[in-house]
Amino acid sequence: SFAYDENVILDRVDFAIEAGTFTTMVGDSGAGKTTVADLIIGLIRPDAGRISIDGVDLETIDLRAWRRQIGYVPQENLLLHRSVLANVTLGDECLSDADAEQALRDSGAWTFVRQMPDGIHTIVGERGTRLSGGQRQRVMIARALAHHPRLLILDEATSALDQRTEQDICATLRSLAGPLTVVAVTHQRALADAADQVLRLTNCKVRPAGLRLQAT
Ligand SMILES: Nc1ncnc2c1ncn2[C@@H]1O[C@H](COP(=O)(O)OP(=O)(O)O)[C@@H](O)[C@H]1O
Ligand SMILES: [Mg+2]
Repeated sequence: SFAYDENVILDRVDFAIEAGTFTTMVGDSGAGKTTVADLIIGLIRPDAGRISIDGVDLETIDLRAWRRQIGYVPQENLLLHRSVLANVTLGDECLSDADAEQALRDSGAWTFVRQMPDGIHTIVGERGTRLSGGQRQRVMIARALAHHPRLLILDEATSALDQRTEQDICATLRSLAGPLTVVAVTHQRALADAADQVLRLTNCKVRPAGLRLQAT
């Protein structure tokens, strides 16, 4: 359970996300989807109950080590007026060009990045204006993947995209699940169709809207 002051957001919510699966979380604006993501990341703590990671209470886990295992893709477009490469690595010297290329391949961005005039060194423009909305999100996903997370969380990262583009990115997320656990928050239905599990948040409760575990 979790409340912001007197405002109960999650009431005895109980669900599990299997490692290696693709889960989507749907629900109206304000339903508490971001709150669930924040709880999983450990940015906020439940008022009652607990969150377990691989059976271990998150309270007892080193949060910094846990967060290093999470790739997070926010709704806001946070691209810098720099190269594709710089946007993926954010200047982290531990990441080579090859690491960035692999992350771009995994996010489905490599096909268009390699066709750009300067490839990985192409400047994306102010807030990525030289890229389409879908391309921008794929670069954002590559940034999250570059550090080899175990868990990828997307918080309405595809909400601003047209349905076709969102479905394409969904197929990419689907292909990433397996080695990776993927949780995508959305207020649209489109994303839900490709998921192993759909969690629907309504009236402070989470109910499974569909469980279709597939062999991956
Ligand atoms: N930092 C905060 N302080 C107080 N209330 C908050 C805060 N963040 C979110 N809320 C409230 O919690 C509810 C759920 O928010 P949120 O998890 O962001 O919903 P969603 O992501 O599903 O749109 C909303 O009513 C929102 O106004
Ligand atoms: Mg939200």
